Amino acid sequence: TIGNSTNIVWHKCTVEKIDRQQLLGQKGCVIWITGLSGSGKSTLACALSHGLHARGKLTYILDGDNVRHGLNSDLCFKAEDRAENIRRIGEVAKLFADAGVICIASLISPYRKDRDACRALLPEGDFIEVFMDVSLQVCETRDPKGLYKLARAGKIKGFTGVDDPYEPPLNSEIVLHQQEGMCDSPTKLAEIVISYLERNGYL
Ligand code: PPS
Repeated sequence: TIGNSTNIVWHKCTVEKIDRQQLLGQKGCVIWITGLSGSGKSTLACALSHGLHARGKLTYILDGDNVRHGLNSDLCFKAEDRAENIRRIGEVAKLFADAGVICIASLISPYRKDRDACRALLPEGDFIEVFMDVSLQVCETRDPKGLYKLARAGKIKGFTGVDDPYEPPLNSEIVLHQQEGMCDSPTKLAEIVISYLERNGYL
């Protein structure tokens, strides 16, 4: 029995991951960007996709906000729905990586346990966690969508960092620390990730 399914058998095809990777000339992996709302996850995902695309590498972004428009439109922001959002994005990211694509997942993913479960879906090394280490105060000052203001006014309940938890990662592969008035450009941050990929044989 797998999950709620019984009598299911894995079917293997003779075209395998290694063949797809050879065809594409790249190694699939998942770059998992976690952090508070307004910490710059989506901006980094986009800059990273741009930088890798310019190097002839195929990328695909799974952005929490965007995936919630389709696949995850049945989910809200209560704890179990966030966990399911993370699980589904983790599973889809795994499929992209298996296809040979550099998959960039950018979602708050506030719970350590759920992020670690996504990590466990992938071969060792293929899950690269990037922590946007930006304080609540800085994110709240930025407030690009005006959501913190609404949360403080009690118009959004259970907003991450305000009245809902965020568990910072303990062992991210990459930590991008940004302080007020001392923020690197998205291109600079993307270069840090790209150089990690180079050093670790993904480019
Ligand atoms: S999660 O926690 O990983 O399931 O969240 P995610 O899928 O990344 O979605 C976060 C975006 O949804 C908007 N939003 C909220 N965020 C946090 N808490 C609450 N209650 C909430 N309600 C709506 C918000 O625009 C988040 O976007 P980002 O890009 O993180 O700012």
